[in-house]
Amino acid sequence: MANSRENFGSRFAAIAALAGSAIGLGNIWRFPYMVGENGGAAFILIYIAASLFLSVPIFFAEFIIGRRSGANCFGAMKRLAPGSKWGLLGILCILTPTLILSYYAVVGGWSITYLLRSFTLAFPSFGSFSSSGWACTAFGIYLALSCIIVAGGVKKGIETFSKISIPILFILIVGLAVYSVTLKGGAAGIDYMLKPDWSKVGARTFVNAIGQSFYSISLGMGIIITYASYISKKENIVISGIGTAGFDLFFAVLAGFVIMPAVFAAGIEPGSGPGLIFDTLPFIFVSMSEASPLLATVVAVAFFLTVTIAALTSSVSLVEVPVAWLIEEKKMKRGSATLLVFAVTGIIGAFCALNLGVFDWLDKVCCNVLLPIGGILCVIFVGWIMKKDDVRDEFTSGGIRKGNQRLFAFAYFLVKYVAPVAVAVIFISNFI
Ligand code: PHE
Repeated sequence: MANSRENFGSRFAAIAALAGSAIGLGNIWRFPYMVGENGGAAFILIYIAASLFLSVPIFFAEFIIGRRSGANCFGAMKRLAPGSKWGLLGILCILTPTLILSYYAVVGGWSITYLLRSFTLAFPSFGSFSSSGWACTAFGIYLALSCIIVAGGVKKGIETFSKISIPILFILIVGLAVYSVTLKGGAAGIDYMLKPDWSKVGARTFVNAIGQSFYSISLGMGIIITYASYISKKENIVISGIGTAGFDLFFAVLAGFVIMPAVFAAGIEPGSGPGLIFDTLPFIFVSMSEASPLLATVVAVAFFLTVTIAALTSSVSLVEVPVAWLIEEKKMKRGSATLLVFAVTGIIGAFCALNLGVFDWLDKVCCNVLLPIGGILCVIFVGWIMKKDDVRDEFTSGGIRKGNQRLFAFAYFLVKYVAPVAVAVIFISNFI
């Protein structure tokens, strides 16, 4: 079929876009604390296993749906399972990122505000700022930024932005980590995060590791389906999957090396979530400024720039999912499709920006219900509904990837049997 769709221009472009989606707030505000509380290096080992044997296979399933069909989430299901109810999975995969974008961009707005404030180190009090009119305005600006990048197109917008952002993100996080680990008293932070403690490892640790890795790689919400539809047929799926998971983990560990030493050097209890980034760290930056205002300003600006860019590369991937659907299924122009997504998420997000109760509720519904359902259905579709030969063909790029040929049986087993059961267990465990 003639195809006028744009594609990512190179392997680096594809991995930068995928890693950009993966690297986000989850890596910065959740991963370091989760590692510290769940057994340090022991948790990291379990996390790597969970990523390799579960998240990466789910990534494969979504990738196969996207690249095989060469279409947006809904179009993908229509092409691969015509006339069936599987179109509903496509709709779910468009609904979930739209809802997530609505509140994710609220945090993006906070990040931009704190980035601007870090030039003068005059941070607002997070408690009163977070549901103010200013927070809502900043949300609108951040959302508009994400949409402008997507309106630029797959190549000129998303690809260009990702290819620039990913190297900048890594330079920033490595620079910050080098600074942070050399702080006096910072070693205790590394100790807290990494010291292996198998006594802390229990059933819950596995549930945490799987849940975090699933969210962090941006599974279950149509992003991999959509991005994979822009990836060349020749590209190696295994390299895309392991590359994305690897960059994501590397960044998360480095984020821990930035945050934990700084927190311990300041003698503060570590924590996670918005409070860590928007309360604890600003407090640390302000206290650092007593010794050297210039250094404190540079570190604060670098830190909030990292948070803002990391969030932006993720929200761009969220915007693209419904936009791709509107362009291909509703025949809209990219510009108007993006504007419509901006309007809808702007309205839902304004409620979240002004009322953190709505924010929390939406976050729970998306992460605990919609994402696992999306993930399970994708693996069931690829493992049980698609023809095995088609799956193999896609996994091996039409047979040209000989190494993948050998890996196929194992990967297929993981997708068909292991992933559905594991995600179902995680899903149920959220309610007990
Ligand atoms: N993977 C992102 C993170 O770690 C989370 C994300 C969620 C990305 C939703 C895109 C969409 O923060």
